[in-house]
Amino acid sequence: MITEILRPNENVISKAVEILNNGGVVAIPTETVYGLAGDARNARAINKIFKVKGRPQDNPLIAHISDLEMLKKVTNNICADVLKLAKAFWPGPLTIILPKSDYICKETCAGLNSVGVRMPQNETTREIINRCGYPLAAPSANLSGKPSPTNANDVKEDLNGKIPLIIDDGECAAGVESTVLSMLDEKPIVLRPGIITANDIEKVLGKKVAIAKYITEDIKAGEKVLSPGMKYKHYSPKADITIVKGNLQDVANFVNKHLEKNTFVLCFDGEERYFKTKCVGYGAKGNAIEQAHNIFSALRTLDKLGAVKVFARCPEDNGVALAVYNRLIRSAGFKIVELGKTQAD
Ligand code: TXA
Ligand code: MG
Repeated sequence: MITEILRPNENVISKAVEILNNGGVVAIPTETVYGLAGDARNARAINKIFKVKGRPQDNPLIAHISDLEMLKKVTNNICADVLKLAKAFWPGPLTIILPKSDYICKETCAGLNSVGVRMPQNETTREIINRCGYPLAAPSANLSGKPSPTNANDVKEDLNGKIPLIIDDGECAAGVESTVLSMLDEKPIVLRPGIITANDIEKVLGKKVAIAKYITEDIKAGEKVLSPGMKYKHYSPKADITIVKGNLQDVANFVNKHLEKNTFVLCFDGEERYFKTKCVGYGAKGNAIEQAHNIFSALRTLDKLGAVKVFARCPEDNGVALAVYNRLIRSAGFKIVELGKTQAD
């Protein structure tokens, strides 16, 4: 199959809608990462998405909607808090887990009786959903286990020849996937951190929002998880990553003593001179928005440079930075070296 990469325009939107109406899949831009979209009601389309990505069958997809009328179709249970969240954060990078109606096929939700819903910001994508008239199920448009794609070229790297169309609307603004928030119980709980933080959500709802513990901790064998996606090794480049936690000078001393062939450092911008090996920066220290924007492309760059071993500087683990920490710690398979007491540096 030839994969076309096209900038959005009227014709391209019509082409995408036609493919989707025929049960096909299309890579679409969103403000977080690129998605691989198909008709959320159509089991055949959904199976294609799972197959193209090599995605485990028990990991549910997010349904992308273009207006609140569509929300009413995918769930029969919209409480006042959900409307508050929709008003405050949609269109935007928040996925809300709600009880599922029968409108969406069971394959989209991997057999769960809940559904993740979000209204993306990208106007071309919303226009496509609007013209389709049904929600689009869309996981990130990478091969399962690889870093999520933040531009059309990343999608091409993973899916060239496997899908007919990639809509290229440039770099994604956020760079990490949406915040996933479960509203199934009385107490809202963040299942995946993103640019919208638990604190942002608390301000809107006026109540406490919990954060799932596996966001920062590995899941033990047999442990039940609320979000199946968290079970899998994720976001991994080919290189073996270790996070080194400590102040810059201590980290540099440690890394410089442990250099092997093709060892790289994933550092904060401007720190390159401290390390006696090649470095890839992922944003300024303390600038979580910038780090979120760059983290996945930095992981892909390490692959392209042939990194075998990578030592990574540790992001903060709160606020927006928690999203970066969560992606990095998973790409490192939870390997962290802690260098004594961390002093401010
Ligand atoms: O920003 C995003 O969310 C991107 C763009 C394309 O919208 N999509 C995305 O999809 O990241 P995906 O499939 O890569 O990640 C969806 C996450 C998975 O961890 C999945 O387990 C979780 O959301 N999820 C989806 N439906 C769920 C449900 N009903 N209950 C619990 N977790 C759910
Ligand atoms: Mg994904």
